Amino acid sequence: MAARDEPEGALMAIETRPDTDQDAAEASPYQALLDHGRERGYKLDWLQQRETFGSTPDIGTEENGGFLLQNADSGPFDQTPDFSDNMTGRPRGALKRAEAPRVGNYPVRTKSDVWLRNGAQLYEEAVQRQWSSSTDIPWHTLEALPDEIERAECQLTTFLTEVEFVAGDVPGKWIAYTTPDYYEPRMYLISQIMDEARHLDVFRKRALANGGGLMGQLNRAGAAGGVIDSARDFTEMSARLHISGEGSVLSLFRMGELMSYNDAEKAMYRLAASDESRHVAFGVMHLQYLSQTDPERSAEIHGYLDEIELGLTAAADPQNPVVRGTDSNTAISILMGGGADKASVEEGQKMLLAVRRRQIKEYMQRVRVAGFGERFENGRAAVALEQYVSA
Ligand SMILES: [Fe+2]
Ligand SMILES: [Fe+2]
Repeated sequence: MAARDEPEGALMAIETRPDTDQDAAEASPYQALLDHGRERGYKLDWLQQRETFGSTPDIGTEENGGFLLQNADSGPFDQTPDFSDNMTGRPRGALKRAEAPRVGNYPVRTKSDVWLRNGAQLYEEAVQRQWSSSTDIPWHTLEALPDEIERAECQLTTFLTEVEFVAGDVPGKWIAYTTPDYYEPRMYLISQIMDEARHLDVFRKRALANGGGLMGQLNRAGAAGGVIDSARDFTEMSARLHISGEGSVLSLFRMGELMSYNDAEKAMYRLAASDESRHVAFGVMHLQYLSQTDPERSAEIHGYLDEIELGLTAAADPQNPVVRGTDSNTAISILMGGGADKASVEEGQKMLLAVRRRQIKEYMQRVRVAGFGERFENGRAAVALEQYVSA
């Protein structure tokens, strides 16, 4: 700790300084150090002592999670500006260097545009809950399945592989768009991209693991990515991706046992659901922060929710694997109903209705938590939502 209080180099420089007043050096070692350098023709002003020198954060214990990001920052490092002028990649709280080059043209420099409370906690949770599709899925439990079941599984996992690519691809650019002063949401998004890469690989592996293979590309998944990617604003993107797309997929994954035929598939949906719940939580918590700090954007957010509800209630959302008229809908009907014959598919369709009702109930709950629940009371929300919930 002594090294943090009094940099070793500084002390050595002072101690070997022959021609400066010793009392002054003791009164202000830093000033004496500057004098020492100036007299010899070099600058030592970069060797600042910051406000936090001498104070140590709570580094935790192994039992309580260790040294967590939310406990690291204090003083100037904990000050997140409402507006950021940082265009040089400067870490939050670090001292400005006047000649630093502009390395980022960050469009996201308003805190409410990207912020959430507990972003550091969510990032730490993501780091701690990483898993491996190689070793955490009991692949050896796969056994030969009836042909129509295996084909349905391959079609569904093809869909999921494709949409997981979108879920990693779309938030990617927003990382580079965001000022380093808001590093917590940036780092959280980096963890999300790692999660989505793993989802992509686990569903790809499942398509190939049991003697099957990837099936047909979906006719509209690319368009779904395009729609989310066309967002002009981070919150618009987050509403479409985190609240809508990932929310719908999370509700389905939570019912993954109903379409699993072995422990490998159960583990695959359970582990992916645990990641997706974090991605959805990010979107909900961001929207909640926005609703509390920037009410002027409320009408705009309701506009995004109008659009999301159209997709949730009609066969119009290419991100949603359970909407009617899609290959993934048929695949899930076969998996849930237990076969491709008429009675099984009808049974599967009934179970899919339960998935859709769950999607809508969970969506409504998220919107309420985010602070936009008045739309369900004042007639703004899509009428079909209630029809699904009360069906
Ligand atoms: Fe995912
Ligand atoms: Fe996700």
